[in-house]
Amino acid sequence: AGGVPVVEKGKLTTCTHLPYPPFQFERDGKVVGFDVALVDLVAARLKVQQKILDTPFENFKTGAFLNSGECDLAAAGMTITEERLKNVDFSVPYFDATQAVLATRKSGVTSLADLKAKGKKLGAQSGTTGESYAEAQGFDPVAFESSDAVLNGLRTGQVDAVVIDYPVVQGWLKDPKNAAEFAVGQNIETGEQYGFSVKKGNGKLLAAIDKAITDAKADGTYKKLYEQWIGP
Ligand code: ARG
Repeated sequence: AGGVPVVEKGKLTTCTHLPYPPFQFERDGKVVGFDVALVDLVAARLKVQQKILDTPFENFKTGAFLNSGECDLAAAGMTITEERLKNVDFSVPYFDATQAVLATRKSGVTSLADLKAKGKKLGAQSGTTGESYAEAQGFDPVAFESSDAVLNGLRTGQVDAVVIDYPVVQGWLKDPKNAAEFAVGQNIETGEQYGFSVKKGNGKLLAAIDKAITDAKADGTYKKLYEQWIGP
């Protein structure tokens, strides 16, 4: 090897937006999750430590913190979209996701169409693909700043249902208290795939990320981490 280091300062700085379990969330004062574990594989290859920064979600669209050099990459359960590709480069996909409509059992809402028919209120996380999906369907969802604000909005009755990535909902419903209160009405096959983003043109780091993902898929590490963080 040798040559120009892919990352400077002896660390790989990851920008994220917390919490987004099971992809990134705090446990015992540490940020952990599926994305964190995958990026750790990249850091290990580069022989550096991963450092995680919590940043506002709107930066993920513009790539502001990548362009400023604050972060080397972004990992936030982020869907690869045409719009985001205008501002950042994405790794190969590392996860397939769908959107869930999660409603309070009290509301009896079973789908977006049903929500509209019943005149109920919808929520989503601001700047996400769930929000864009709802808007494209003619809704004007109440925008929450983070995934836990989305859950709280549902819990406190600010909204009757939310559109959010299915794996996040699956995590929430593992808590019996949530399962007693909320139910998935609809699973929307949006064909979304998550990717890690880097500053446009940072091909060196992108190649290291792609290689880490591809190798982990080939040698069983990906499967092990998937089962550990997401489930069977
Ligand atoms: N996958 C969705 C998107 O790309 C939601 C991501 C939300 N991530 C987060 N860390 N809150 O828009």
